[in-house]
Amino acid sequence: MKIAMVASEAAPYAKSGGLGDVMLGLPSQLARIAGNEVCLFLPYYKRIKENSAYAVEFCQDFKVQLSWREQYAGLFRLKPKTRKKQPTVYFIDNEYYFGRDGLYGYLDDGERYAYFSKAVLEAMAALEFIPDIIQSNDWQTAMVPVYLNANYRDTFPNTKAVFTIHNIEYQGWANPDFFDNVLGLPDSYRGTMDMSGGVNMMKGAIECADAVSTVSETYAQEIRYPYFAHGLDGILSANWFKLTGITNGVDVSVFDPATDKTLVENYDIDTYAAGKAANKAAVQKELGLPANPEAPMLSMITRLAGHKGIDLLCYVARRLLELDVQLVILGTGEQRFENFFRGLAAEFPEKVSAQIKFDLGLANRIYAASDVYLMPSKSEPCGLSQMNAMRYGTVPVVNATGGLKDTVPPVDLEEGTGLGFTFQSYNGDDFWGAITRCLAVYQDKDAWDALIRRDMATDFSWKKPAEKYMALFTRLLGE
Ligand code: GLC
Repeated sequence: MKIAMVASEAAPYAKSGGLGDVMLGLPSQLARIAGNEVCLFLPYYKRIKENSAYAVEFCQDFKVQLSWREQYAGLFRLKPKTRKKQPTVYFIDNEYYFGRDGLYGYLDDGERYAYFSKAVLEAMAALEFIPDIIQSNDWQTAMVPVYLNANYRDTFPNTKAVFTIHNIEYQGWANPDFFDNVLGLPDSYRGTMDMSGGVNMMKGAIECADAVSTVSETYAQEIRYPYFAHGLDGILSANWFKLTGITNGVDVSVFDPATDKTLVENYDIDTYAAGKAANKAAVQKELGLPANPEAPMLSMITRLAGHKGIDLLCYVARRLLELDVQLVILGTGEQRFENFFRGLAAEFPEKVSAQIKFDLGLANRIYAASDVYLMPSKSEPCGLSQMNAMRYGTVPVVNATGGLKDTVPPVDLEEGTGLGFTFQSYNGDDFWGAITRCLAVYQDKDAWDALIRRDMATDFSWKKPAEKYMALFTRLLGE
C-alpha cells in the first residue's frame, strides 16, 4: 500500500508535543509492514535546515497557488542513514513561511499551513507519487482532504483521505475573508469551511475526509459530546460513520529502562527493585531532596496547563504532603501553576521539588525514580507519558478519560488485574480517593510487586496500533 503521511511536526526533526512522537512511531512501524511504501511530508523549518545531522537532496521546485498568491515551494528529500526499511521523509521549503525560529504561534499560521497542505499535494503530483491513502493530522494539515477533493481529484482519483485528530481544542479558526483571500477554494466549498460565520479548517477536514480517526477509542466516543468537542460535537455526530479511535503506542526503543543512557542504573522487569532504588537515590540527590528510600515518590511530568488537571493536584497537595511522601513536578506552563509549585517547594523543601523547565533527560530519570505517576487530565485524547511511566515500572493514577481510560485499566486486587488507579469524575476528592487507594497498595509489598510487573510487561509498542491503521486503510480501499 502506498501511504503518504502529512504533519506539522515529527520527532526527531521538529517536535513540540505528543503529535511529534506519534509522527515518528507510526510512520516507522507502517514502513516495516511488507508491501508498504510510506512517505512523510514535513515543513522545512529553520531548525531542520540548520541541523547538520539532516542531510538532504533537492528534488524539484514548483509554485503553489493560494488565492491571488503564487508561492515558491522547494522539495527536499532526506538522505537515509540506514538500509532499514524506513519512511521516505520529504521537506517542503519556503523561507518566508518556515524560516522562523519557532514552529507555531505566528499571526499568519493559518496561511502558513494552508500553504503547506496544498504544497504537499503539489509535491506528490510532481513526484508522481499517487498514494492509496493520505493521512493528515490536526488543524495544521486539515486542508489536505479539502484541497484533495476541491483541486486534485484528476491527479489522485482513487486516493482516500484519513484525517486524525490529536487535539480538538485547536481547530484552525480564521476570519471569514480567509476563504477568499487565502484558501482560494471553489465557491461551492464556502459552506464546507464555514462555521458560525468564520472559517474552521478542522471542520472542513471532517466533512471532506473519507475517515476521521482520533488517538484513542474512548476519545472517539467523547468528542461527540459538547464537554469534549470544543464546538465540533454537531459536525462529529453528523459524521459519526467516519469516526474511529485507534489508541497510540509509544516508542519502546526510546523509552526503555533497560537501555536508557540517561539513567544511573538500567533495569528490566527482573531487576527493577534494585534499579529503581538506585535511580530514586540518584534523583533525590540531583533534586536536593532528602535520601528516603521508603517514602513513595509521586511525580508529574507535564505542560502546566489547565486541561492537564493541575488544579486537582493543587487542591489535594496539602493533604498529600501531610504523609511521608515526596512530590516531583517537571514542566512549564501557566504562570499561576508555575508559581503554585514554586511556592509549595519553598514551603516543603524536604518533600517537594518543582522543576519549572523542559528537560527530556531529567524526565526519563524521574520516570525511573518514581513510584507513582499522576495524570489527572480533564480530557486526554491519548496521553503518552502514562505509558512511558508504566514501562519504567511507575504506577499511574489517572482520570478515566480518553486514552487514559483505554491504557490504564483499574487495579482489581482480588482478580490480580489492572495497571493503575483511576477516578471517574473530574473532582479533587475523587482524585484524592484514587491516590489513597494507590498508596495503600504501595504498603502491600506483594501486591505492589505484581502490579509493577504487569505494568512493565504490557506491550505499548506501535505494533498493534499500526495493524489497526492498516485495517482502517484496507477497509477504505474496499480491499
Ligand atoms: C496530543 C494530545 C495527547 C496525545 C498526543 C498524540 O498532544 O493532547 O493526548 O497523546 O496528541 O496523539
